[in-house]
Amino acid sequence: MSEQTIALVTGANKGIGYEIAAGLGALGWSVGVGARSEEQREAAVVRLRAAGADAFGVPLDVTDDASVAAAARLVEERAGRLDVLVNNAGITGGMPQEPTRVDPATARAAVETNVIGVIRVTNAMLPLLRRSASPRIVNMSSSVGSLTRQSDKDDPLKAGPISGAYAPSKTFLNAVTVQYAKELRDTNILINLGCPGYCATDLNGHRGVRTPEQGAAIAIRLATLPDDGPTGGFFEDDGVVPW
Ligand SMILES: NC(=O)c1ccc[n+]([C@@H]2O[C@H](COP(=O)([O-])OP(=O)(O)OC[C@H]3O[C@@H](n4cnc5c(N)ncnc54)[C@H](OP(=O)(O)O)[C@@H]3O)[C@@H](O)[C@H]2O)c1
Repeated sequence: MSEQTIALVTGANKGIGYEIAAGLGALGWSVGVGARSEEQREAAVVRLRAAGADAFGVPLDVTDDASVAAAARLVEERAGRLDVLVNNAGITGGMPQEPTRVDPATARAAVETNVIGVIRVTNAMLPLLRRSASPRIVNMSSSVGSLTRQSDKDDPLKAGPISGAYAPSKTFLNAVTVQYAKELRDTNILINLGCPGYCATDLNGHRGVRTPEQGAAIAIRLATLPDDGPTGGFFEDDGVVPW
């Protein structure tokens, strides 16, 4: 098996996921560009390769069992193992999101991609991650999923606008990640949550104030943790995000 570190980033065709792939590629890693659109996936792979990254395309819709199983087979055939999985793909589910008028389909869609999608991809990739000497899983969450920040009485909008779908889906993802860390605590797998900050991407109509590249930094940090690094934590650039 190759000595080169093998990573897979979901939703890597654009936004923060693309920049995570670029950052990991710049480390000399082989990076799987997980994306559901063939055209956008191949365009991203071409751009990453032009920048010197060893990138390869991985067809991947995180909501689709068959697609995820095929992605695991592709990574296995290409590399025989996986060292780093970055679960970055995410959606808001659509607007409006106030709990009193949110369409249940909106909430379901957010959970299906942001939580169930992460579980589906993680469990499909775990057999490959277990073959790595230093496996890392990074789940891209958001500080809008922090119940501490959401319930700050002095600043109710500190953790973003009122949301009955997207923000709670990230709280759910945080809770699930803590459970993974507990189950995997006696293994060498480190699994953590990252918040990229408010970045200008398609997700928010480019209203974010940080660049996608800045948002990628926390994921790259968590993807490159040393063996004695944390697991089951929630981090942003400035440190720990409160639950
Ligand atoms: N931007 C922010 O301010 C911000 C803040 C906190 C957290 N985050 C989180 O950071 C992550 C990346 O967000 P972003 O801002 O870069 O958003 P983005 O530009 O909208 O990119 C989202 C990515 O996820 C992919 N995706 C969505 N559903 C998918 C599915 N079913 N299967 C595979 N890929 C799927 C998208 O693919 P398509 O192009 O095919 O739709 C796209 O590649 C998300 O988890 C988001 O919640 C973002």
